[in-house]
Amino acid sequence: MSKTTVSTLLKYKQAGEKFATITAYDASFSKLFADAGIEVILVGDSLGMVLQGHSDTLPVTVDEMAYHISSVRRGTADTLVIGDMPFMSYTTPEQTYQTATKLMQAGANMVKLEGGEWLYDSIRGLTERGVPVCGHLGLTPQSVHLFGGFKVQGRQQEQAEKLLNDAKALESAGAQLLVLECIPADLAKQITEALTIPVIGIGAGKDTDGQILVMHDMFGITPGKPPKFSKNFLTEGGDMRGAVEAYINAVAEGVFPGPEHTF
Ligand code: KIV
Ligand code: NA
Repeated sequence: MSKTTVSTLLKYKQAGEKFATITAYDASFSKLFADAGIEVILVGDSLGMVLQGHSDTLPVTVDEMAYHISSVRRGTADTLVIGDMPFMSYTTPEQTYQTATKLMQAGANMVKLEGGEWLYDSIRGLTERGVPVCGHLGLTPQSVHLFGGFKVQGRQQEQAEKLLNDAKALESAGAQLLVLECIPADLAKQITEALTIPVIGIGAGKDTDGQILVMHDMFGITPGKPPKFSKNFLTEGGDMRGAVEAYINAVAEGVFPGPEHTF
């Protein structure tokens, strides 16, 4: 397999080929996922919940992110590895550059940050310095306390318009990828069509260019009630490799996410 880059993903979008992506936090799973055909891995700060057992992502540190990114990198050379910037590690452009330095030097190919237009200068500055950026809008988990819980975003007209404008601002700042989390499917479709850059959805319906799942959700081992938008692919896949392949095929065929996973 050749290296997956932002150009690869742009071609998929232009060709209308839906692609599946997943989170990973260590070398064994990143190798398993890459071998099964996953081309983009996110080292998400969701690790605060699924690995560390916290009730949200706020406790995760930059050093912890760097540690997991370096582990994931050792499992795969060709996968596009995205590293999450954790809570409060990108409050100013200056701090953003310091955080990005650690994540990129740990082996990330791209960094992801949560937020809209207020990140304009930071994203512009990162791309000017050679760091590819993935945006993240909608239910941005680092703002869970501001939202009053893990709630679907963008249901009111005003919120929806803000999300669309934020998405356009991120693209014009230089972001090359965007994650939309837990927003109505029709809004996600509208944003995906309005942008040139590829859009990856989680709880955002079937019309985004790609999908992402937290690996623990895909294997059905996340503690507590599984989120509505996730699916346990282990049941039909038989084993871990089969589960990933079933997920990849379901996304490529437009079968996942179905209406039952959608807001
Ligand atoms: O941290 C994470 O796993 C994420 C995805 C759910 C998009 O940000
Ligand atoms: Na995250």
